[in-house]
Amino acid sequence: MRVEPSSTQAIPAVAEVPRHVAIIMDGNGRWATRRFLPRVAGHQRGAEAVREAVRTCVERGIEYLTLFAFSSENWRRPAEEVAVLMQLFRMVLEQEVAKLHVNGVRLKVVGDLSRFDTRIVELIRRGEARTARNRRLTLTICANYGGRWDVVQATHRMLTDRPELATSFTEADLAPYLAMAHAPEPDLFIRTGGEQRISNFLIWQLAYTELYFTDTYWPDFDGRTLDEAIASYRRRERRFGQTSEQVREGRRAAQALPGAVTPLPDA
Ligand code: FPP
Repeated sequence: MRVEPSSTQAIPAVAEVPRHVAIIMDGNGRWATRRFLPRVAGHQRGAEAVREAVRTCVERGIEYLTLFAFSSENWRRPAEEVAVLMQLFRMVLEQEVAKLHVNGVRLKVVGDLSRFDTRIVELIRRGEARTARNRRLTLTICANYGGRWDVVQATHRMLTDRPELATSFTEADLAPYLAMAHAPEPDLFIRTGGEQRISNFLIWQLAYTELYFTDTYWPDFDGRTLDEAIASYRRRERRFGQTSEQVREGRRAAQALPGAVTPLPDA
């Protein structure tokens, strides 16, 4: 498996459009409550917003979209709400995979799948296998996922495969075992719904990611809101530990190369 280098080891190229966008889709419940609807109505509208986000990412040339659909902590919600979320997840897998495939989208689902019912796990495996060769957009759904779970499961699997690393190992040794090993680290993180927390999402991979928080509830998130987040991203200066001068010099050198794209605005 090809593992994307960590940005703590290699500085990725900075582009006009983020290559990888990771989103915490928050605010479904409040969107519904404001409309005197049951919370589950918010999740149903949230699933529609997922469709629009995928479509917009394909149109904008974003290569990886990662969505936090269900955290390890979400099992604590009322049983009926968990059941509706599972039903919705199953419906999306049954009805959307064919459309994803036609549109060149590769589906990946990461997280501890041991608590999901066997029908859902089977649909996940089938959907992943069917879309495995697509490269237009990689859509990763994080389900029963937690960033700390990921670091622990990766360490366990690494030490099972390579017990000689028990006394000393590097980031590069661990990287292939992390749940997101198939993707570069996110360039842009978005959280909707007004909270400003990472909530145990991709804690390893977000080390150098630009963070964007919006008050928009997830069901209202659309192409325009995504464009606002991208515009904010383009105004950032991604230094990866370097000085501003080094970053500007690197940019000038890149622009001097044949086929260079429009320069990013200086921050
Ligand atoms: C957070 O809103 C949202 C969730 C816990 C579930 C997200 C699920 C979807 C968007 C639908 C299905 C998606 C896929 C990919 C199958 P919240 O309920 O915490 O909202 P609140 O903070 O307003 O209560």
